[in-house]
Amino acid sequence: MCTVGREPAGVWAAPGRVNLIGEHTDYNDGYVLPFALDRRALVAAAPAAGGGSTVHSLQQGPPPVRFSAATVSPGDVSGWGAYVAGVVWALRTGGHPVPELDLLLDSDVPIGAGLSSSAAVECAVAVALAELTGTPMTAELDRTAIARLAQRAENGFVGAPTGVMDQMAALHGRAGALVFLDTRTMAVEHVPFDPADHGLALLVVDTRAPHTLVDGQYAARRADCTAAAGDLGVPALRDAAPADLDRIPDPRRRRRARHVVTENARVLHVVATLRAGTDPRAIGPVLTASHTSLRVDFEVTVPHLDVAVDATLAAGAHGARMTGGGFGGCIVALVDAPDAGSVAAAVAGAFTGHGFAPPQAFHAGPAPGAGRCR
Ligand code: GLA
Repeated sequence: MCTVGREPAGVWAAPGRVNLIGEHTDYNDGYVLPFALDRRALVAAAPAAGGGSTVHSLQQGPPPVRFSAATVSPGDVSGWGAYVAGVVWALRTGGHPVPELDLLLDSDVPIGAGLSSSAAVECAVAVALAELTGTPMTAELDRTAIARLAQRAENGFVGAPTGVMDQMAALHGRAGALVFLDTRTMAVEHVPFDPADHGLALLVVDTRAPHTLVDGQYAARRADCTAAAGDLGVPALRDAAPADLDRIPDPRRRRRARHVVTENARVLHVVATLRAGTDPRAIGPVLTASHTSLRVDFEVTVPHLDVAVDATLAAGAHGARMTGGGFGGCIVALVDAPDAGSVAAAVAGAFTGHGFAPPQAFHAGPAPGAGRCR
């Protein structure tokens, strides 16, 4: 990465993520099973040369973003700089005052593809600042606490009402393992999974579908879930069982709740299958069932995602689903490793047939979480 003319105090990194299964469950106290990508955001940090803090990005700007770490508050910084300023704000208001710094960002996590490029930036900045403020990742400010801080930046400063999955995947990711997270207890279990051990590959296809109405739709789904839990008199949909669903009077809310209830069960099923050492091909139909539920009950897919999933299945994938919040972004497909090229080609062919822009496919596998690189 380039420099701004002097040596940084250090360089820190945090990855994007792919969620294998457990979608729209994290804000319902439910289960998720993401993994950290081998694509990362990097941040180099040095004490400020001037009076305030300055953030340069190799992907965004110029101009750089400037703010005062001592006073920055929600509303002061918008756009990409808010992911950085928000972490400074979250740390400071959490009792960890942040010195004025010069930061340089770089990232190879695709932006706007539903792979949590923003959480990667937040988490890289959070681990850098935790160390620079004298509270590195220790018992005092452990990985989960840092993930919570980064989520607070996203919720309270950026203004996106997201759950904690992306930040937890970035902080707790591990090579060769999925991050099984219970978002109620925040318990993390690393579930070993290396597709190559089984002659398999996880193919991620970025549909490059234009994101529309994403923010409002996400908030609307959350509101439906909260209302459905209220209908049932339970704290969260995590506490609902399939037999309860008939007691939700509104049909749309009932469908939303059905997705969450069945999705939690699917995550537990996948974890049990992988823990048992069964052939992971067995999880394929569960992944596909998740996509169907997100399409029919949760209504967060778009034609690009559905066409991509259908094309991978027709080309021999064991299972496939959208990954992330939906309304565009990526799918993930479980394929026999030798078939990865032909499955990717099948999606590209289907996109041409539908008049969609060409998709971008790549292999993904569980990679390490956030930390210092030098
Ligand atoms: C986005 C949010 C996550 C999660 C997913 C859906 O990625 O940031 O918290 O809710 O959508 O599973």
